[in-house]
Amino acid sequence: QELQLNLEQIEKGGYEHFMLKEIHEQPKAIRDTYRGRLLSDEAIIKMAGVEDNMKTFLNANRIIIIACGTSWHAGLVAEYIFEEFARIPVEVEYASEFRYRNPVINENDVVIAISQSGETADTLAAIKLAKSRGAFVFGVCNVVGSSIARETHAGAYTHAGPEIGVASTKAFTTQITVLTLIALRLARAKGTMSSSDFRLYLRELELIPQKVEQLLNVDDHVKDIARQYLLSPNCLYLGRGYNFPVALEGALKLKEISYIHAEGYPAAEMKHGPIALIDDRMPVIVIATSKGHYEKVVSNIQEIKSRKGKIIAVVTQGDTAVKEIADHVIEIPESEEAFSPLLTTIPLQLLSYHIAVMRNCNVDQPRNLAKSVTVE
Ligand code: AGP
Repeated sequence: QELQLNLEQIEKGGYEHFMLKEIHEQPKAIRDTYRGRLLSDEAIIKMAGVEDNMKTFLNANRIIIIACGTSWHAGLVAEYIFEEFARIPVEVEYASEFRYRNPVINENDVVIAISQSGETADTLAAIKLAKSRGAFVFGVCNVVGSSIARETHAGAYTHAGPEIGVASTKAFTTQITVLTLIALRLARAKGTMSSSDFRLYLRELELIPQKVEQLLNVDDHVKDIARQYLLSPNCLYLGRGYNFPVALEGALKLKEISYIHAEGYPAAEMKHGPIALIDDRMPVIVIATSKGHYEKVVSNIQEIKSRKGKIIAVVTQGDTAVKEIADHVIEIPESEEAFSPLLTTIPLQLLSYHIAVMRNCNVDQPRNLAKSVTVE
């Protein structure tokens, strides 16, 4: 047993938990995911699975993304990116709903299935259904040779390396990276993005790992914030546009490892219900990046403040307006708005992690959860 424990210590590489290790591995994981695919000097993206099926992608009436949990959140981020860059309509479906809904789907549809483990039962069943209706199915998996990787017509692996913590972290950011590469490649092929913008995005994407590295230095600051909210029974996460799915993901992360009830919402939806929850005991995490409908988010923050909610804001470096109103700010480096989820999600992962550790929760193996959900 002692040997087993030592082995685990070695695997954790000096970190207290796998989750923390995996959070810190993200700069490398993102880099590994685009390595050999993103060639910025030549201004090309090379992805065999996309190239070999380019005609199918370009002729698609729409893309349907199917996934569960965190992978579904990555799909939602991809919806914004695909529609913006490649102007292809995208629908994002929970695999569990899709498989039982008798969906309208045919050979003109491209389905992208996203799964870290490649073993999620609902996603696998949804793929089989889509295939039986003639759709082309493309897989985005992390585990090489997994069932989903084998069941799909083509695919692209995320190169995140093994993810042991039940709470998905580096799988999420690498899924977004792969999906962004696909969207950019299709945008070039369709001519929906100019070559100068394409070059700019490639260079920007290459800068993300070092920005994540820099961002990981907020750890102590986030830990201080965590200490102040560890006893909160509820928590609200708000974001708009590309960062709306990040709000959902932040809330999921907190729920699953700290057992605090948390909800994610598009910030503007607050006035349609959740605002009734806000009082001086409600922490609200707001993503307020400088290019993402900034003024609108600031006014959402003011609405929360006037109801005495506690505001933890994720802002772009150099922000001044939010700093004046928020109780805490966490700064992220400036980037293209479309790539901001790769940054904004990092402090939210750290916040959940620290709160869960301070609450003595089993961070790597939360109660009632399994790493891959191979049953319905
Ligand atoms: C996230 O932290 C989860 N533990 C969970 O939601 C997970 O993302 C979901 O079960 C899907 O798993 P998959 O990516 O392996 O298909």
